[in-house]
Amino acid sequence: MTTNLIEAKDLTKHFPLNTGWFQEKKVVKAVNGISFTIKAGETFGLVGESGCGKSTTGRLLNGLIPLDSGTLLFKGKDLSKASKNEWKKYRPKMQMVFQDPYASLSPRMKIKDILREPLDIHHKNMSSAEKNKRVEDLLDKCGISKFHLNKYPHEFSGGQRQRISIARALILKPELIIADEPVSALDVSIQSQILNLMKDLQEEYNLTYLFISHDLSVVEHISDRVGVMYFGNLVEVATKEELFTNPQHDYTKTLLSSIPQMVPKAKRKEA
Ligand SMILES: Nc1ncnc2c1ncn2[C@@H]1O[C@H](COP(=O)(O)OP(=O)(O)OP(=O)(O)O)[C@@H](O)[C@H]1O
Ligand SMILES: [Mg+2]
Repeated sequence: MTTNLIEAKDLTKHFPLNTGWFQEKKVVKAVNGISFTIKAGETFGLVGESGCGKSTTGRLLNGLIPLDSGTLLFKGKDLSKASKNEWKKYRPKMQMVFQDPYASLSPRMKIKDILREPLDIHHKNMSSAEKNKRVEDLLDKCGISKFHLNKYPHEFSGGQRQRISIARALILKPELIIADEPVSALDVSIQSQILNLMKDLQEEYNLTYLFISHDLSVVEHISDRVGVMYFGNLVEVATKEELFTNPQHDYTKTLLSSIPQMVPKAKRKEA
């Protein structure tokens, strides 16, 4: 039986718009009452055009921003009612990978220190040797050799930097990875390498992904199920196969008809 890692019900987040002193208060309905589940071990793709609320949804899931209303269960635990201390316990189980690895990696830290930092904070009793081994092993799994441990982020290519960000996201052995446009800044050839790495890591570490992207061909490549967002609402959730062969919602049909260029299937398999 597959269990739900995430059960989200009526998640809502509105942001106030500053319209001046005497005007009525307006809000941006960034996330406007959405419900979905993410099963343990699956990749749930979240698509939709810019500003529809994808990143806000991701940030609500790991508590980076508080919910206005709704319930959020993580492995059955109601995080919408969790205290700060409880969030501290759960947040390491949910890690984020962002679009721009250069912005998310400290420029003045060596990559071995970037990876060790979360271990120093969360595993105070782990020996130094054990930490170093975990760092080396994980970087190796992510395709970065230990000969690069003393290098700084700027010494790597964009694709390598994203490998390092992914390794850092995995260092605390999380269960959920919230990947917000993780390949959008990369060349298409590099994109498929990173997507394939993410698939391999998912299998090896039994990871669950929330994969956010505006790019349907990327989402098709990696997702098991897909949610389509439109102006703060989730208008359709379906398996990848259903969504791409038999879209139900008019907005999904519009999105599918506007895919600029699909990578040929044969090429995708070998990449
Ligand atoms: N902290 C904030 N304060 C005010 N408005 C915000 C804030 N964060 C997001 N918004 C607004 O909420 C809406 C949804 O933004 P969000 O970043 O979630 O969209 P997105 O789907 O991730 O877009 P993109 O594809 O461009 O990354 C947008 O109108 C955005 O301007
Ligand atoms: Mg976004």
